[in-house]
Amino acid sequence: MPSLDAFAQAKLDALEQAHLRRALTETLREDGIWVERGGRRLLSFSCNDYLNLTQHPAIKQAAIAAIERYGAGSGASRLVTGNHPLYAELEARLARLKQTESAVVFGSGYLANSGIIPVLIGRDGLVLVDELAHACIFAGAQLSRGKVLAFRHNDVGHVKDLLSAHRGAHDHALVVTDGVFSMDGDLAPLDVLLKVADEHDAWLMSDDAHGIGVIGGGRGSSFAGPAHVPVPLQMGTLSKAIGAYGGYLCASAPVIELMRNRARTLIYSTGLPPSAVAAAIAALDLIEREPAYAALPVEKAKLFTRRVGLPDAESPIVPIVLGEAEAALSASRFLADAGFLAAAIRPPTVPAGTARLRLTFTAQHPVDEIERLADLVRERILLQ
Ligand SMILES: Cc1ncc(COP(=O)(O)O)c(C=O)c1O
Repeated sequence: MPSLDAFAQAKLDALEQAHLRRALTETLREDGIWVERGGRRLLSFSCNDYLNLTQHPAIKQAAIAAIERYGAGSGASRLVTGNHPLYAELEARLARLKQTESAVVFGSGYLANSGIIPVLIGRDGLVLVDELAHACIFAGAQLSRGKVLAFRHNDVGHVKDLLSAHRGAHDHALVVTDGVFSMDGDLAPLDVLLKVADEHDAWLMSDDAHGIGVIGGGRGSSFAGPAHVPVPLQMGTLSKAIGAYGGYLCASAPVIELMRNRARTLIYSTGLPPSAVAAAIAALDLIEREPAYAALPVEKAKLFTRRVGLPDAESPIVPIVLGEAEAALSASRFLADAGFLAAAIRPPTVPAGTARLRLTFTAQHPVDEIERLADLVRERILLQ
């Protein structure tokens, strides 16, 4: 066997042995909640389409109209000729929703985090990242070539200690956290993080991939508490509750202008297809008009956690931590036999020993099915 193939096969064998090998499973999403997989029709509790907007008729129609008018792709980077007329409207809408001066849209959330952090932090800088933050935040932090330190999950005292110990040796410092944690569903204490960051002249950045559209009346995690927290760098994605594709940063006018000039993932990557931008605009329209609809995913998640006897859900994401990868896989198979899609999440996506089912709740999940799922999880998975 050529050495390249032998290398790949040995890696795959090791993953297989540890129950960590993954497969791309063909999944046909029939509507907002039902999927067809391996010949079975399953009710999905694993999509991030929290508002079921990927299938909303008005949003699909907006995407179709954009293709008819502007074409299927954007044809070039935004800085060359890919900046079609829909971008300006989307960016204005995002800035309005997040109450910032300005906004810029990237090709995806991953591209946004990989591009934003190296613009702000260089070799002499410091980046503090919550240990459970999304992989693409760590990717962006590594690309900055500054000093990267992980702080204990949601531990503001640890952030304070790290800033006291290291801030003085660096020209700039950035503190980055998920606003809503993607695998745990809890919220970051943005108000106290902002206070501590400000005290040390560090800049706070939140990743609201799982907050926009569903938390704080749809405005996101910095609007979750009694008072709005003016996080200076609010990043997020258009691929989850918004139901389309793309990433964004909302911030002050000079910061956004700097991103347009310096963010490599914006400059050296093709602009989004017009259909994705049009769909996102239509989704923001709906969210602004219907905050009660935006509140439904968290209400449904709370219904589930109360019936199982877990602490109240804070977001549409509810983890059922089971430990080893095999336990999570077997629980997922059991629920599939009962008609539910509940994907097992294993390391390295989550820390070793914390493999889990990651359940996500959406606006349109029927209450009786949520109750049936809760009873199975309580009686057949957690009490086993
Ligand atoms: C917290 C978080 N940030 C960023 C991303 C990446 O966003 P995208 O899927 O748009 O690349 C995701 C999801 O994949 C996420 O969960």
